[in-house]
Amino acid sequence: MTVTPVTVRVPAKVNLQLAVGPLRADGYHELVTVFHAVSLFDEVTVRPADRTSVRVSGTDAAAVPAGRANLAVRAAAALARAARPRGASSAVAIEIRKRIPVAAGLAGGSADAAAALVACNELWQAGLSAAELSAVAAGVGSDVAFALLGGTAVGRGRGEQLTVALAAGTYHWVLAFSPGGLSTPEVYAACDRLRAARAVGVAAGPGRARPPGLGAALGASPVASSAGGRAVDPVAGSSGEGAAGVPEPRLSTELMVALRSADPAAVGPLLSNDLQPAALSLRPELRRTLSAGRELGAIGAMVSGSGPTCAFLAADARHARDLAVSLTGAGVCRGVAGCHGPVHGATVIPAGEHG
Ligand code: C5P
Repeated sequence: MTVTPVTVRVPAKVNLQLAVGPLRADGYHELVTVFHAVSLFDEVTVRPADRTSVRVSGTDAAAVPAGRANLAVRAAAALARAARPRGASSAVAIEIRKRIPVAAGLAGGSADAAAALVACNELWQAGLSAAELSAVAAGVGSDVAFALLGGTAVGRGRGEQLTVALAAGTYHWVLAFSPGGLSTPEVYAACDRLRAARAVGVAAGPGRARPPGLGAALGASPVASSAGGRAVDPVAGSSGEGAAGVPEPRLSTELMVALRSADPAAVGPLLSNDLQPAALSLRPELRRTLSAGRELGAIGAMVSGSGPTCAFLAADARHARDLAVSLTGAGVCRGVAGCHGPVHGATVIPAGEHG
């Protein structure tokens, strides 16, 4: 019997808000985040095979782990455990065509895992519901459930507890890619270190005990943080925060209101990312990229997720095209991609339509 291979298209994400709370006992941070799926897609094809394998082509292919470390392989194995009858073969040949750069803060690995879940669910006719797939996804990685869902959604917990956001309109983005990736755990660890240093500084009194170089790492100007979408000095901290404790993250109601307006000019100033100071401390050169985008007219500029990709919000599609050209000319990144959001999450594409 020949079985038709299944191909799934899956988007990258940016976080319109990323509020990072305290470090939990399980090593994860409590989050409130606003995920937004954008039209930069990977494609994943699965077909039955004698043994499981993974082949990767396209952007950063050489940097994608092969074998069991690959998130798509792990997702297929997790689905087989959840939904495959005992004794039935669950070996699949997985082919990933990448356009989402690796370790870029765009959840590319999570996207491939989500695509593998949807593709294997279809290939095996396993019949898992969206909610059941989402539960399997959460066990594979914090961002995988969102890549299944797509659109614009609020994530809580590790990011895996999702609520669809009431957002209107289409937003046009330019993504500026950096040479080399950033490790997500390392960026979270840097965030913890900066916060600990800040707590020491606050305890020691004004102007005391700021570690050398910290001001430069954080940037001379305020960096957008999650305190209701207002720009706050990341060294001084946001309102209501104690010296030692990290406050519980909270959703920016201002951002949620702006997203319902469909007006990028309202959304742009409210973009915020608590991991941005950490990403900038590890990659100070990103400050130049962000400044260049702002000077070239972006109406919102931020590091995407754990970075190092920088995401710039444009007024419309035409503005995004102009911005992409100018950013390329400015020489502040390794490449750019124009895209829009929100878009659907992982979706099966009919045979013959992929490429
Ligand atoms: O869940 P995922 O494997 O994508 O997370 C990668 C790493 O990012 C975790 O091991 C952890 O270090 C960090 N992380 C975190 N808090 C979260 C999500 C991820 O600290 N909410």
